[in-house]
Amino acid sequence: MRKAKVSRIPSPEAASNEPQAGPFSLVIFGASGDLTKRKLIPALFRLTESNLLPENWYVLGSGRTSMDDESFRVVVRKSLQELSGSGPARKESEDRFATRFHYLAGDSQDSAYYPRLAKRLTALDKSHRISGNRIYYLATPPDNYPGIIKCLGESGLNRPVKTAEWNRIIIEKPFGTDLASAQSLNRKVAQVFKEDQVYRIDHYLGKETVQNILFLRFANAIFEPLWDRRYIDHVQITVSEEIGIEHRAGYYERAGALRDMFQNHLLQLLCLIAMEPPASFDPDTVRDERTKVLKSFRPIPPDKIDQFAVRGQYGPGLVNGRPVPGYREEPGVAPDSPTETFSALKLYIDNWRWQGVRFYLRSGKRLAKRKAEIAIEFKWVPHLLFKPLTPKDIQANTLVFRIQPEEGIQLTFQSKHPGPKLCLDNVMMEFDYRGSFKGPSPDAYEHLLLDCLVGDSMLFARRDWVELSWAFITPILEAWSKAPGVPIYLAGSTGPREAEMLAEQDKRHWRPL
Ligand code: BG6
Repeated sequence: MRKAKVSRIPSPEAASNEPQAGPFSLVIFGASGDLTKRKLIPALFRLTESNLLPENWYVLGSGRTSMDDESFRVVVRKSLQELSGSGPARKESEDRFATRFHYLAGDSQDSAYYPRLAKRLTALDKSHRISGNRIYYLATPPDNYPGIIKCLGESGLNRPVKTAEWNRIIIEKPFGTDLASAQSLNRKVAQVFKEDQVYRIDHYLGKETVQNILFLRFANAIFEPLWDRRYIDHVQITVSEEIGIEHRAGYYERAGALRDMFQNHLLQLLCLIAMEPPASFDPDTVRDERTKVLKSFRPIPPDKIDQFAVRGQYGPGLVNGRPVPGYREEPGVAPDSPTETFSALKLYIDNWRWQGVRFYLRSGKRLAKRKAEIAIEFKWVPHLLFKPLTPKDIQANTLVFRIQPEEGIQLTFQSKHPGPKLCLDNVMMEFDYRGSFKGPSPDAYEHLLLDCLVGDSMLFARRDWVELSWAFITPILEAWSKAPGVPIYLAGSTGPREAEMLAEQDKRHWRPL
């Protein structure tokens, strides 16, 4: 396929409306864990380097691992080594950054820990000259969430000391394991925090190219008139990974692909594609529209789950030419595990805009390629006057949001092939995010931490959204738990044959990975 580039039109002053965060403290429960090292510390550092954090702030890490401030700062420095940059100025800013980190070892499930926590916070607020704004970040295993939330409530730490201040809580995924557990967790959260204090994180919503879906749809006049059942044939959402479950068998065995990727990330992507234009760019107005999409999902009849949902589990194979073990051979995985590492869904949205349009979603581990994209495939012209150059190459117009790894947007369309014959050929117009804006996009956690600091909950999941998404997913999980026998696919492939058939039964085809 021939490609044409799209360039950014340089503007003299790129519109920068970054909101300013005020002084704050961040209490991380589960601070000795992986998320803190891999995501939170680097995100805070980059925000500091971009001058997006205020002068006064600190982190208090909480965890069972016995550490003091100094040993926690060693963890902080180590996690910064992964980032690019060096030199004396960088060393100085890393040292200054590390001094903001403190640690209080203890058992977050024990109410006796909280008076100590409160005392330490009061002392740190004073030494860092902060009047009280605070975020609690739950990065522990999810079984610990209810205990922490309850203790925060009983100790009064859920409430800000002065009325002009705020206390917020960020809750990592997974938020529940099915509808009943998500509802129960929501009830426990609501006993202690008001909904506007609660930030349920979904890092996909913080990805630059995911946010760009809203900009493409609602800041351009040319796409929206085509954005419905009259012009769109179907939508495909793919999130494929090359990695396996890494060292997360304990979590993954109980989760599986549907819980891990669909209930949150893929359904959020779908909502951004399918939502109506919001009346304003206010967090709750946008979240209302995302929620309405879920309310319009056509429920899958329990006896027809197989026609709409398929699963698979990777067997041994080659990924990028390297042999990899099958899922059941991974450390910590049961030799007869039924857990799915791949899922694909077909669903319909019963409203005026989307009636009859199919949405195909797939995600899996140990597939041929790492790729996340949303493809909007338009209908064919009603009557084709011209002959394709090679019939198999001709594609319907397709608009693709490339979320990762090469972030961008591409549009395929037909053009006349040069020469005397009246032949059609596919061409592609491509907008490359990195090339146009010079440099990598900020990490999702940078966006989301900053949003929480300024009180913007637009890119977080609201209580009703979470429950509706579980209401859709839970019947599929229940049906699968009653029907053992997960199809095995070859690691390094595009997933199980059953997934191909999900599209082929409608005479549609998945895009190549
Ligand atoms: C996480 C899942 O939420 O998202 C992981 O728990 C998955 O299993 C990850 O690998 C994918 O995120 P990303 O940003 O690497 O696409």
